[in-house]
Amino acid sequence: MRQPLVAGNWKMNGTRTAVADLIGGIKAGLGGVESAEVAVCPPFPYLAMVEDALQGTPIAWGAQNLCTEVSGAFTGEVSAAMLRDFGCRYVIVGHSERRQYYGEDNQIVARKEAVARQHHLVPILCVGETLAQREAGITEEVVADQLDAVIELSGVAAFASTVVAYEPVWAIGTGLTATPDQAQAVHAFIRGRIAEKDAAIAAGVRILYGGSMKPDNAAELLAQVDIDGGLIGGASLKAADFLGICAAA
Ligand code: G3P
Repeated sequence: MRQPLVAGNWKMNGTRTAVADLIGGIKAGLGGVESAEVAVCPPFPYLAMVEDALQGTPIAWGAQNLCTEVSGAFTGEVSAAMLRDFGCRYVIVGHSERRQYYGEDNQIVARKEAVARQHHLVPILCVGETLAQREAGITEEVVADQLDAVIELSGVAAFASTVVAYEPVWAIGTGLTATPDQAQAVHAFIRGRIAEKDAAIAAGVRILYGGSMKPDNAAELLAQVDIDGGLIGGASLKAADFLGICAAA
C-alpha cells in the first residue's frame, strides 16, 4: 500500500511574512488531513525558517533543486549535504522549468537524482512531455527516456527510494489540467516501465501528478489507481487550497 504524498512546490515565491503565514495556516488545518503525507518545498533562503516552524510536526520539507556535485568551487550552488543540514527529507529534481530554462537534460537530472539519494534525501523526479510532444504522439517515448536515464546511471533500485512526479508541461501553471484518464494512462506507463526491470519496486514507487491540481479536481485525479498524490504549484501558496488537496488524498 502506497501512502499518498502531497508536496507543495512554492517555486520562487515568498517573503518571511508570507512564509510564516502559509506555514501557520497549514499547521492549523492539518487536522483535516487523514491519510496523506504532507511536504512543502520552499525556496532555499527560507529552509531554516521552515525547519524551525515544522520541527516536531508531521509535515516534511524539502528543496526544489540541488547541485550535481558534492561540494567545492561551484558558485551559487547548494549541495545535498547542505539540504540535509537543514533537515530536508525531499528534493525536487528535473522540474520542467529547470529543464527548460537552465538546460538540465536527462543525464544531468539523473546525476542530481543519484547525489540526492546518496545523501539520504528522497528525490522527487519530475518527468513529463510538452504540448508539442503530446501532439506528436511521443509522450511515452519522452517519459521513457527521462526514466531510463536514471535506470542507466543508478539501476532500477533507485526507484525504491525515489518519488516520481508526472507533470505534463502543458498543464503546469496553465489551469489546463490533464483529465484523470490522461494522467492515469501516463502513470500506468511509468509504473509499467519500472516493472519491466523490477515488479516489486514498481508496485511500491509513489507517482505524483503535477499540473494545475486544485481542490476542485484533486479527488478525481487522486482516485486513479496509479496516482499516489500531487506535486502542487500555485495551489500550494494558499493554505486552504493546499489543505483541500491534502484532505482529498
Ligand atoms: O511542481 C509542481 C508544479 O509544476 C505544478 O504547478 O501551478 O500547475 O500546480 P501548478
